[in-house]
Amino acid sequence: MSLGIAVIGAGGRMGRMLIDVIQRDPGVHLAAAVDRGGGAAVGRDAGELAGAGACGVPVGDDSAAAIAAADAVIDFSLPEATAKVAGACADAGRPLVLGTTGLGDAEQEAVRRLAGHAPVMQAANYSTGVTLLTALVEQAARAIGAHSDVEILEAHHRNKVDAPSGTALRLGETVAGVLGRDLAQSAVYGREGHTGARDRETIGFETVRAGDIVGEHTVLFAGDGERVELTHKASSRTTFAAGAVRAAQWAAEQPPGLYDMRDMIGV
Ligand SMILES: NC(=O)c1ccc[n+]([C@@H]2O[C@H](COP(=O)([O-])OP(=O)(O)OC[C@H]3O[C@@H](n4cnc5c(N)ncnc54)[C@H](OP(=O)(O)O)[C@@H]3O)[C@@H](O)[C@H]2O)c1
Repeated sequence: MSLGIAVIGAGGRMGRMLIDVIQRDPGVHLAAAVDRGGGAAVGRDAGELAGAGACGVPVGDDSAAAIAAADAVIDFSLPEATAKVAGACADAGRPLVLGTTGLGDAEQEAVRRLAGHAPVMQAANYSTGVTLLTALVEQAARAIGAHSDVEILEAHHRNKVDAPSGTALRLGETVAGVLGRDLAQSAVYGREGHTGARDRETIGFETVRAGDIVGEHTVLFAGDGERVELTHKASSRTTFAAGAVRAAQWAAEQPPGLYDMRDMIGV
């Protein structure tokens, strides 16, 4: 049976991508779409807004009604919406896939409360490949990290404004956590001039910004005479939306609780 999904933040970059992915996936359908009241998206056909063709679902501004009308909820909006969305999911007993980042303590507490009533998937990155990469990096760090020079290389498009990427930093935190190091002390961001020999305790970060590269991350474990390189390459941003839709299908089958993408892919 096709799972009816409500998309919160439907007019946003991720929201429109989610609607497009949902329209193409025969296992799910768009049950409702919501954006901020008074916003330009409200009242428009959600499929047209996403550039995926009309679907007969207008974008509304009542998240509680949308959530009650759906089997599962995907929210990529803003932290201001989180407590209300989590409360409505608890009232209606609906699973929530939460992509919104930058939550404060009060919003995070609302998410924890919901997890007592319904399944909640919360991840900073919904790419299944990056989730697997993180698990493999943790395993590699445990096996050979203490005897390797660890370097993290990342490449993104010319318009990205922050460096290193959030994903590169999370990979660094994963390695540092396994090795019992503090990333703030261990990280070396780029090198230039007379740097001296490398200190094994450091974790190096190298950044490339060029063209339209969607996102590439490599974690390099280099010892004497051999090295291991673990790499993920994203070729389309729809990978995040596709991962979130898959997460909604998975979450709908789970008992109440707080889950992350590693639970879903079983690593
Ligand atoms: N976990 C991941 O894999 C991942 C990947 C990408 C992005 N994200 C996160 O997802 C969130 C959205 O990103 P984005 O790039 O799509 O941002 P965006 O383009 O700014 O979209 C956010 C949308 O949510 C709407 N919105 C704001 N408040 C709302 C409310 N109270 N109720 C319903 N809708 C509301 C916004 O409307 P207005 O324009 O009127 O404010 C906008 O249409 C961010 O927190 C981002 O960090 C997570």
